[in-house]
Amino acid sequence: MQLCPLISAQDIAARVTAMGGEIAARLPDGAVTTVGILRGAFVFIADLVRAIPRDVRCDFLGVRSYGAATETSGVVQITSDLSLPVAGQHVLLVEDIVDTGLTLRYLLDLLEARGPASLRVCTLLNKPSRRRVSVPLDFVGFDIPDRFVVGYGLDAGQKYRNLPYVAAIDEELPPTSSR
Ligand code: IMP
Ligand code: MG
Repeated sequence: MQLCPLISAQDIAARVTAMGGEIAARLPDGAVTTVGILRGAFVFIADLVRAIPRDVRCDFLGVRSYGAATETSGVVQITSDLSLPVAGQHVLLVEDIVDTGLTLRYLLDLLEARGPASLRVCTLLNKPSRRRVSVPLDFVGFDIPDRFVVGYGLDAGQKYRNLPYVAAIDEELPPTSSR
């Protein structure tokens, strides 16, 4: 496996600062409840909340997708639920990456059912070419090509979450693979 740097720590920092400003300007007045999706979004959210000049409540949802190591099945297991109710709150769901959209679709339905005052989505990375279900993305850090990426919280088999930048992994794939 080889790491190919894709987005530098400096570029991430600049984009996250800008996103924080966009979020503060565009979300309805009142406190913002960020819901970070663990574990991949933990680095992003730590930087993002410090860039949002508003009252922010931080909560987290632990999720696990079943399926092959680099492919989601759309079946999402909640490993750790929110600690506070989101009814009546302005909720900002914070994802590391949206790929097929299946995980996000499931989480949006789950949160919507709890009656938030508003529900917006922020993702650091977006792979539009891989989408299988349409999902509303209100704030996107970077659109990226169809490559498996790691770093800045994202992992491959639990490795590389601590890289300060985003890198693509060149996997050894059998010739029959579609990825
Ligand atoms: P989706 O359900 O296909 O949109 O995938 C969403 C989840 O799969 C993300 O929240 C990540 O946890 C994981 N994922 C998708 N693509 C990548 C990648 O390139 N690197 C690391 N994790 C990924
Ligand atoms: Mg994730």
